[in-house]
Amino acid sequence: MQTLDVATVLPAQIRRARRDTLAHIPGNEGWPFIGRTLNVLADPKGEVERMAAKYGPVYRTRMLGETGVCLLGPEANEFVLCDQTKLFSSALGWGTLLDRLFPRGLMLLDFEEHRLHRRTISVAFKAESMKSYLTELDAGIAAQVMRWRSRPGPILIYPEIKQLTFDLAATSFLGPDTGREMDDVKCAISDMVAAAVAPIRKPWPGTKMARGVRARAHIVGYFSAEVSRRRALDGEDLFSQLCRATDENGALLSTQDIIDHMSFMMTAAHDTLTSSLTSLVYFLATNPQWQSALRDEATSLGLSATQPLAYEKLAALPQTEMVFKEAMRILPPVPSVARRATRDFTFGGYTIPAGTLLGINQLYTHHMTEHWPEPDRFDPTRFTDAAQRARHRYAYLPFGGGAHMCLGQHFAYMQAKCFARHFLQNLTVSLEPGYRPAWQMWPIPKPKDGLRVTLGSAG
Ligand code: HEM
Repeated sequence: MQTLDVATVLPAQIRRARRDTLAHIPGNEGWPFIGRTLNVLADPKGEVERMAAKYGPVYRTRMLGETGVCLLGPEANEFVLCDQTKLFSSALGWGTLLDRLFPRGLMLLDFEEHRLHRRTISVAFKAESMKSYLTELDAGIAAQVMRWRSRPGPILIYPEIKQLTFDLAATSFLGPDTGREMDDVKCAISDMVAAAVAPIRKPWPGTKMARGVRARAHIVGYFSAEVSRRRALDGEDLFSQLCRATDENGALLSTQDIIDHMSFMMTAAHDTLTSSLTSLVYFLATNPQWQSALRDEATSLGLSATQPLAYEKLAALPQTEMVFKEAMRILPPVPSVARRATRDFTFGGYTIPAGTLLGINQLYTHHMTEHWPEPDRFDPTRFTDAAQRARHRYAYLPFGGGAHMCLGQHFAYMQAKCFARHFLQNLTVSLEPGYRPAWQMWPIPKPKDGLRVTLGSAG
């Protein structure tokens, strides 16, 4: 497949904006060297809210060794994500965090090259492929739910869901015959995600980044060894489909492209799904009326607890979708998105120079009182069709938007609906009285203590 050098797409002179060229933008860069990194790690939502209250919706900050600018609110989200003039580079934005770990993953490609790859990969997300993934997801989720049902009582649900999500991804992404090497692949992916946001950005011995870089080498080895074998087979899993996918000229993706896309995609899917399914369970546990409503909705499908869910039936779970959306509003699995300006531009009255690292913020947007009255209250009726139509399109963006909008969005909804349906047809979930779990919100929300819930049998 044709590959383009980023330098041919982006102006060659794009460099990090010099700090002094951002001095006119209001803000506070915090401590020397570490900037505001610790504030963000400690309380990402509070930090952005305080900065926005003090400096406004366009402010200067410093994180992970670089001064950048945050652009807040739906208008900023739309401006950045939907730009069609190649003003914002995703590769050079996310690259700061992810370059050593996921070089040339889809989110780290730009413009024409990105379009070509995205089109080629999209074959793995067409309806026929989704149906085959759903069969695997359904079987895996049903089996896990039955295991939970056989041992009711208190349980730490986050690690259970993490394991389940990984096992499901292993089957639908890699096929059923993955064997024991999967444990190593799982550890490698965890190490890569941890390294992506580690404060020390160099792979010095003993650091998370060193472990992440080693993990990438392991993943590269695993996928490289498999590509030619998969090309010759007719597997329906996502990896096999990428091995056979061709671009608009009929050329196959190169082995390196497949490795880069697979390692990025496994990571993009794993922690986001773990986070969103865990918050789904949490909000069901704390909102028993919605738990009953979704159980009734699942029962109305007319399937016994062990019968699989057909792809065509996914649309028949509208309340489940509303609840899942509301869970991702309050706890968006990707709390912010990075870009870098390729040219000078003006927004909100400020001229921002080429090379500036930019952040837009889902977590902040999803709690803006002008769009979400009582933002901390769990209320899935915010997602009726009428309510969604009345709101700014970019007031809700758990999956981003524009050219880089999440490719796995439908996969995520499918897995969530399948999960909710089996879970609620078989189980009840509650929290112990007085228990208030704390959430770590960044880089991907997760309950700090693993989230202790009590499972019971649903009839
Ligand atoms: C609840 C689950 C998920 C959430 C909240 C989520 C969120 C996101 C967001 C916000 C982006 C855009 C980032 C940007 O614009 O810079 C993105 C991109 C992406 N996601 Fe997801 N994601 C989820 C699940 C998945 C799954 C299951 C897959 C794969 C099966 C996946 C694959 C991707 C890919 C390939 C991209 C890059 C798209 C591109 O650059 O064109 N995601 N995701």
